[in-house]
Amino acid sequence: AAAEFGLYRPSEEHDMLRDSVRALSEAKIAPFAAEVDEEGRFPQEARDALEANDLHAVHVPEAYGGAGADALATVIVIEEVARVCASSSLIPAVNKLGSLPVILSGSEELKKKYLAPLARGEAMFSYCLSEPDAGSDAGGMKTKAVRDGDHYVLNGVKRWITNAGVSDYYTVMAVTDPDKRTKGISAFVVEKDDEGVSFGAPEKKLGIKGSPTREVYLDNVRIPAERMLGEEGTGFATAMQTLDHTRITIAAQALGIAQGALDYAKGYVAERKQFGKPIGDFQGVQFMLADMAMKLEAARQLTYAAAARSERVTLGSDEEALTFFGAAAKCYASDAAMEITTDAVQLLGGYGYTRDYPVERMMRDAKITQIYEGTNQVQRIVMSRNLP
Ligand code: CAA
Repeated sequence: AAAEFGLYRPSEEHDMLRDSVRALSEAKIAPFAAEVDEEGRFPQEARDALEANDLHAVHVPEAYGGAGADALATVIVIEEVARVCASSSLIPAVNKLGSLPVILSGSEELKKKYLAPLARGEAMFSYCLSEPDAGSDAGGMKTKAVRDGDHYVLNGVKRWITNAGVSDYYTVMAVTDPDKRTKGISAFVVEKDDEGVSFGAPEKKLGIKGSPTREVYLDNVRIPAERMLGEEGTGFATAMQTLDHTRITIAAQALGIAQGALDYAKGYVAERKQFGKPIGDFQGVQFMLADMAMKLEAARQLTYAAAARSERVTLGSDEEALTFFGAAAKCYASDAAMEITTDAVQLLGGYGYTRDYPVERMMRDAKITQIYEGTNQVQRIVMSRNLP
């Protein structure tokens, strides 16, 4: 009955997973979070720790060597990593984003070829939809894929590509028929080592500084036609279906960042004394914490409900409900994370504004969750077209 009404129920296994990811994140990822942010370097320690514990791509189905985790378990992993380091949480999140088009639309051969190395931790995946002049209007992309015998030749520029340069595999959406707009877009797997693939300089960003964001240049990249995902012309639908599922992972990242900030602020107000007592004894401070916890829990419930729907769509039903819920969870949780992290900085006062404390990093990291995988304005377009 729970499934019928779209409810979720975290199992004992989910709770155990949370405990173990939290312990691992605190021991192996948290110690480097400030340094990774300060130096803007890739969190290799996090990649190693996640891969050693099989947490880097838990969504990969068992048939391809993965853990076969459900969407809720994937959310929990991302949440717990993001609680200590948002940049590191993009390893499991973007591995799912990049590879989900293969899982949803790829041939059996492509699944075997690309999912197994991902599951083993030998390769990471990125997702190439956006371009310099096609962000919110993803259908306005210019990158072309032209058929040439048994091959396609790709030319164009993809922008804002998370983990570009680190990832080995890239799902690339490209125009195969310019007259058909979104119905003339196809999806492909491109490899880092394919001739003609290169990367721009890392973007200088406000937050998630440990996760490289670079342009991907495709210069006469000639790939076998079998690397197309599904039929010609189905690439935009695959890209949108993917985002229906993965916007939930961005919601998870937002939840984790917000939880990290709330936990830190809670500890701080119990210690910090002004006017002769801990500032946490003042009702004004207590009310702020109450609001932060309330918003976080509401966002979490919506995200978990969306994750439950993500599972059922994988099983082949309820697609429209997922589209609404994925967008709503991402939009709501990212707005909540921005408010909660901003309030955490406020609670720490001058200290919160410095890099000696982690909450300003969390506030900077939260901002991107309102922007990527579709701005929150795009989420409202998606929700209004798919009202439940
Ligand atoms: N599921 C399946 N198919 C879908 C779909 C969905 N959820 N949404 C759209 N489609 C398909 C349908 O076939 C549809 O045609 P019909 O309406 O005839 O069925 C076709 O796509 C065209 O859809 P729309 O008419 O809705 O297309 P649109 O041009 O109006 O655009 C949009 C819709 C929602 C604005 C879309 O462009 C969009 O989501 N934009 C934001 C892009 C985005 O999220 N980018 C994030 C990049 S990834 C990232 O940020 C991560 C990173 O690495 C940094």
